[in-house]
Amino acid sequence: MIIKKIGLTNFRNYGRLDIEVGPSVNVIYGNNAQGKTNIIEAVSVGSSVVSHRTSKDKEMIKFGENEYIIDLLCHDEVYGSDVELKSGYYTEKSEFNDKKISGRKLYHDGMLIPKISQYMGVCNTVIFAPEDLSIVKGQPAARRKYLNLLICKVSPSYYDMLGRTRKIIEQKNACLKTFKGRFDKSRENELEYWDFSIADLSAYLIIERFRYCEMISRKAAAHHSVISDGKENLKIVYSTITGSEGVIRGFLSDSDMFDQFIAGTLSEGILAQIRATLSDMILEKLRSERITDVEKGIYANGVHRDDIDISLNGLSMRQYSSQGQQRSAALALKLAELEIIKDKTKSSPILLLDDVFSELDEGRRVSLLSGMNTAQIFITCTDRSFVENELSSIVTSNVDTRFFRVESGKVYCE
Ligand SMILES: Nc1ncnc2c1ncn2[C@@H]1O[C@H](COP(=O)(O)OP(=O)(O)O)[C@@H](O)[C@H]1O
Ligand SMILES: [Mg+2]
Repeated sequence: MIIKKIGLTNFRNYGRLDIEVGPSVNVIYGNNAQGKTNIIEAVSVGSSVVSHRTSKDKEMIKFGENEYIIDLLCHDEVYGSDVELKSGYYTEKSEFNDKKISGRKLYHDGMLIPKISQYMGVCNTVIFAPEDLSIVKGQPAARRKYLNLLICKVSPSYYDMLGRTRKIIEQKNACLKTFKGRFDKSRENELEYWDFSIADLSAYLIIERFRYCEMISRKAAAHHSVISDGKENLKIVYSTITGSEGVIRGFLSDSDMFDQFIAGTLSEGILAQIRATLSDMILEKLRSERITDVEKGIYANGVHRDDIDISLNGLSMRQYSSQGQQRSAALALKLAELEIIKDKTKSSPILLLDDVFSELDEGRRVSLLSGMNTAQIFITCTDRSFVENELSSIVTSNVDTRFFRVESGKVYCE
């Protein structure tokens, strides 16, 4: 899938923007704070719904307005047909009280799409941005976001299961609050009801997260080895707060079975056994933690607190690595994401490179560019000539490169 046109209404500093973009390389350049990243962010939100900068959609609505709309006219090269995606978000005052109501509207070829999972994955993008560093350096939430979003882009059912888990955890927390800190044995069946669902859904999420972390680890390690001249050994290990990843390893001690599991070809029967065993184990744990949960009034130790351990030569990168090593690892993780999406969807995602050239040294720039042949690319930078020189490895004379100059929320095609 490639993008042909981008239309923005009241998105960030754009009141209205319409641009026709090229099928290969699109360079968006201009001084700081003019609206370059806003375009990249809009493409990312228009395709994958999620922003790399904020979890609050409201922030992306132009100041003083109450709705943003992102229109992407895409072209499906396999079917030779155009696809229209429209992603909007609004907030408005309720008619009945002072509260604001808000909501998302997603359309695919003019049809309202009720579920985000049905919208995601139609047009896949992968974004490389300075914020990627937080995957290695930041809090667990940044790593969960990276992992969840990657899986969602290739597996709509994962998105649905994630949403259901979030909702049930919210409901369990609401139920815990009604205990007012005191455990009441006669009401235990209420918690058993939520815990039963939580255990089952968690088992599903843990299996998928484990699987994808193994894939990421293999691919990211290969990239990192190239970036670091084979000197450093990058490892990514899924670490669930439920402490149950050992169950999966136990079932898959046979290396052929392990590989089948990673490839998604393991028999349904064994997969169901793993899930049932995990689910039982988690339910036991939930039961044993019930009194503490009631006392605290919150369910603390669930998959919503999971993390990924990222280590270099056996040492946790968050604590022991230099900023340069962390940047390399973040780049390796994103290149792994790109490859996994390519493998699973059998098509090249669109690449969004926000300000990455200024952040990376020569070696890392080469690694980045060598990983991205053929896909449609959007690049932001402050200096047009700098990018022209950098791109010489991928931009040959027969590649159609378009330049867009951005100035105070206006875009000039050059
Ligand atoms: N919701 C918003 N409404 C209006 N302007 C916004 C909004 N959010 C950000 N901006 C403006 O967008 C500009 C930054 O755009 P950005 O794309 O990040 O710049 P850059 O060109 O440096 O990448 C700033 O001037 C900021 O005030
Ligand atoms: Mg920017």
